[in-house]
Order: sequence, then C-alpha cells, then structure tokens
Amino acid sequence: MASATTPLLADDRRNSTADSEDDALRGRASSNRSGPAWVFRLREVLLFTWALLATAGLLIMAVWMSHKSQTDISKPTGKRNLVFMVSDGMGPASLSMTRSFRQYTQGLEYGNTLTLDKHFWGSSRTRSSSSLITDSAAGATAFSCAKKSYNGAISMLPDHTPCGTVLEAAKRAGYMTGLVVTTDITDATPACFSSHVDVRSQNDEIALQQVGDGALERVVDLMFGGGRCHFLPNTTHGSCRADDVDVISIAKEKYGWTYTDNRAGFDDLWEGRLEVPLPMLGLFASTDVPFELDRRNMSDVYPSLSEMAMTALRALEKATQDSNQGFFLMIEGSRIDHAGHYNDPAAQVHEVLEYDKTFQAVLDFLDETKTEGVLVATSDHETGGLSVAKRMSTYPVFLSCIQKIIATDNSLELRSDYPEYLWYPGVLANASSSSEYLAIKLHQHIASSAKNGTSKKDLQTYVNDELVKAGLGVHDATDAELAEIVSNPEKAQDLMAKIISQRAEIGWSSHGHSAVDVNIYSSGGSGTDAIRGNVENTEIGDFLRNYISVDVEGVTEELRKKYQRRSKTAAF
Ligand SMILES: *[C@@H]1O[C@H](CO)[C@@H](O)[C@H](O)[C@H]1NC(C)=O
Ligand SMILES: *[C@@H]1O[C@H](CO)[C@@H](O)[C@H](O)[C@H]1NC(C)=O
Ligand SMILES: *[C@@H]1O[C@H](CO)[C@@H](O)[C@H](O)[C@H]1NC(C)=O
Ligand SMILES: *[C@@H]1O[C@H](CO)[C@@H](O)[C@H](O)[C@H]1NC(C)=O
Ligand SMILES: [Zn+2]
Repeated sequence: MASATTPLLADDRRNSTADSEDDALRGRASSNRSGPAWVFRLREVLLFTWALLATAGLLIMAVWMSHKSQTDISKPTGKRNLVFMVSDGMGPASLSMTRSFRQYTQGLEYGNTLTLDKHFWGSSRTRSSSSLITDSAAGATAFSCAKKSYNGAISMLPDHTPCGTVLEAAKRAGYMTGLVVTTDITDATPACFSSHVDVRSQNDEIALQQVGDGALERVVDLMFGGGRCHFLPNTTHGSCRADDVDVISIAKEKYGWTYTDNRAGFDDLWEGRLEVPLPMLGLFASTDVPFELDRRNMSDVYPSLSEMAMTALRALEKATQDSNQGFFLMIEGSRIDHAGHYNDPAAQVHEVLEYDKTFQAVLDFLDETKTEGVLVATSDHETGGLSVAKRMSTYPVFLSCIQKIIATDNSLELRSDYPEYLWYPGVLANASSSSEYLAIKLHQHIASSAKNGTSKKDLQTYVNDELVKAGLGVHDATDAELAEIVSNPEKAQDLMAKIISQRAEIGWSSHGHSAVDVNIYSSGGSGTDAIRGNVENTEIGDFLRNYISVDVEGVTEELRKKYQRRSKTAAF
C-alpha cells in the first residue's frame, strides 16, 4: 500500500523546489513561477483530484485487506488438522505441584519447566448455565457446541434440544475424526463430541450413538480408551449395561468398526506393523484405564495416553493423506480429575506428567507432518480445590508481633517459631501405588481372608506393611491412622490419600470441582490469538469450529428435525 503512494509524493518533490512545495500545500501559486495563473489553478485541481483518488484507493485497499485477513482465519484455503486436548480437572495448582515434583525427582533446576509451561496461552472461565461450578458435561458442551448448558448436559441446550458438535460438523465436511481418553469412552467429555443425551448417566444410549446408532449415524472414525462394560450385553460377564444390547456386534456388523479389547491388538497398530483399519474401536479396560502410577507396572495390559494418542495421530494422518481435508482429534487426560476427586496427589502428578508427555508428542507430530495444524489444550474445570500447601498447625502471628516489639536484639536469624514455608515432593516420590489401587488390594485381601477369620491386629499389620509402607512409601503411619483404616475399610482410599497428602503438606478443600479459572495451552498458529488472555470456555468452542471452518449450525438444524421426528414416534 505504501509503495503505491511513494511515486506520487516522490514525483511531486522532484518537480518542485522546497518553497514551492510549501506553497502548493497551502494552496497558493508560487511567486517565482512563470505562466498564467489558470495553469497553476488547473495544476492544483489535478493534484487535488489525484490525492483524493489515491486516498480513496488506499481506503478501499485497507478495507479489502482487513476483510481478507478476517476471512483467512475462518475460511482456511488449505488442508488443516486440529488437535484438541482436555486435561479434565486440572487447575493451575496441579501444574505447580507437578513441575516441582519433576524437578525434585529428576534433580532439575527451577527453570526446567514442563512442556505445558512453555506453551501457556491464557485462561478460561468455566461456569455453566446452571451453576457457578461446572461439571464435565456442561464443560465439554461449551467446547463441542460453543454454548453454555446445564450441569449433566451431553451436547444438549438448556431447553433440552440437541446442539451440533464440532466433531459432527467436521465429519460432515469430510474430516476424519477421533477420540482418545483414559476413562470410559462414554464419559462426559468424549460423549459431548459424539452424542446427545439429556443427562450424562445415560451411558447405554451414549455407547450406541457413538458407534453410529444415533440421529446422524456414524461420525467418529477412531475411539481409544476404557469403558468396555457399556458395550457388552447384560448377559455377558463384565457388562454394566441395563439391557441385553450387544453394542460391539452392532458396531462391527452395522457400522463396519474394527474392534480390539487388548494390548496385543493395540501393539499391532502401535508399532505400525498393521495399518489402522478405520473405523477403529479400541476399548482396553472394563471401566477406567488405571492411573499412570499403577499402569506403568501393567503396561502389558493397558496402553498409555501418549501411546494411544500417537497411534491415533498416525492413523488419522494416513487416512487423510489423499484427502483435501485433515482430521479433528480430541485427546483427554481424563483421570487428572479422578485423582482430584480422591485427593490423591501422588496419583495426580503422574497423570499430569503423562498428559505433558502427550502434549509434547502432539507438538512433535505437528512439526513433522506436512499438513498445517494447531494444538489447543485446556481443562473443563479444576477438581479438589488443590492447594500446594497445607499447614497442620497455626502460627501465633499476633503473639509474635508483640514479641517483636518488645524484643531487644536485632538478630538477622529468623525466630525459631517462624513457619517453614514448604511442601515435600519426596513424599509423593516415595509412593509406588495410588490410593485407588491399594484400596482395591485391601478389599481383595479382606474378601480372601474372610473365611480364615483374621484378627483386626493381623489386618492392621497387613495394612501397614503391604499397603502403607510398600505402596504409599510412608513408614511412620500412626496406630490411630492404621486403626481407622481397619475399622472403616470402605473409606480406605480416602484415608490413605489423606496419609500421603498430610505428610507432603498438600491441601485439598473439596472432593468435588471448583470454580477457579483453568489454563489454556497452545502450539499457536492461525486464529489462536482469539483465545489469548482470559476467555469464556465457549470461546474455545468458537475457536475449534472457526479453525477448521465447519458448519456446526447446519448440524444443529439437522439434529433438531430428526429429534422432533423421533420424539413424535417415541418418548425421547
Ligand atoms: C437384561 O436386559 C433385558 C432387556 O434387554 C432385561 O429384560 C433383563 O432384566 C436384564 N437382565 C439383567 C440381569 O439386568
Ligand atoms: C513400578 O514401575 C516403576 C517404574 O518402572 C518402578 O520404579 C516401581 O518399582 C514399580 N512398582 C512396583 C510395585 O512394581
Ligand atoms: C521414603 O522411603 C524410604 C524407605 O524406602 C524412607 O526411608 C524415607 O523416609 C521415605 N521418604 C519420605 C520423604 O517419606
Ligand atoms: C486364608 O487361608 C487360605 C488357605 O486356607 C490361604 O491360602 C490364604 O492365604 C489365607 N489368607 C490369608 C489372608 O491369610
Ligand atoms: Zn471434568
């Protein structure tokens, strides 16, 4: 734009002397010029018209350019991949705790941060339409539909009409789609991208919709995670369905899915020995995949989040290599939330580390692949009211002030009763099992020893030796702490999580969610400035649909028509 106007000014300058330029600007004829006055008049008029036209041209150019750059964001011309990561229940305190834990265990400097820290982007406000504290369902609906809804809603609006999701719209537009999680694949976050039900507890219905038995038929190409029990008929061992519908058979026979339920089946895909046949359903656990802390000793049974994510990325890249459209993949670190609900800090740091590793793996993929792509990651909410500090005793501040006033010495030493501000990552590092795993072990032990009639004393010895010392890595449990577990084995999980939290001086204010803003992370890239700073969770939903430029409203229309028809024939 500037270059177009430069010759005009330059020519003008070349053709006039210093003072005549001044005069021309003031609209006066220069006295040292020869010729009749009307010639100068005409020259002025021409110059003025020229300037006017140039200005108008500039304005038109500017408007056109700004319009073009706006449409560049929402209307990609090239092929794009979009990876959206959700760290369920991970608030800012989880990052501080995990960062310090990693530095402690690996002997790193304070500047050695997590991958996530290096890609901090902004923060998200999380409230739902029905509460100041959201649940995962309303949280994920804000991402999938870019709309606020009530707690429990699976891509349903407050008026109980379905809202189209970015994944469904992506599928309609020719993208390949995938979901990777460590909890049940029917759980709220993945469900919100791939199904529509009034309340999240309708897992039986969600499973059916996810394989293609819903209003839109099949919209997902790849699903990896847990929650197998929702896909097996109630006549089968390991089913948690209320009916005898065999969702696996429906998936295979009616919608063409390839299905695997074990690590061996996954390994063929993971090491790239076989091309991943799509649609691909991999359900590696009956319900949750174990916490990473426990899973690493069972890696022959369960794949990790990063392994599932990398396999999914490779599969979706291969499947779209000859397509004009890329893929949309949602990856969830699902169980950061569970460790928060259980108030188990040892389980949580390993969940966050695995999520961080997965984030790095996605960045590496985006670097290597030829297709333009973006990674955006955030949490739906915080869980546990985690505080990376917990003082078990109060410090008499008031008293100490008085003592300071009457003190006579000016010692540079801190007073002996000055509080120590610290927490102990070493306690978390000592744990080799989660409280969840140890509680299951206790229940199994009680069940197997019930017939033998073991005494409370024997049970307390077992709890201390096999669970608290061997599992939690705590060697100073008190009699009172152990006796409480023996008397209340149903509360063993909470009690063991408390033993470890207290010794690490980690605090929790809740076993539920909290309203604190959560972090947004991104690789950066086209349009990601829209989610810089502090944004509403629905703005992240807006970003997702805009980045791949898909018609989510069109899907909403389609769903509304189909749901109206269905509700006339059946109670929905
Ligand atoms: C299994 O499902 C059928 C309906 O599909 C139902 O009639 C039956 O009661 C269920 N059985 C159990 C044990 O839940
Ligand atoms: C589990 O695996 C980790 C890392 O490989 C190891 O350090 C730990 O000792 C193992 N724990 C158990 C209970 O086998
Ligand atoms: C960790 O466990 C060891 C024994 O294996 C114990 O000596 C040490 O005190 C424990 N450290 C912490 C911080 O609990
Ligand atoms: C209970 O008794 C059986 C054999 O009678 C034994 O195999 C088992 O280990 C015992 N369980 C405990 C917890 O002592
Ligand atoms: Zn959640």
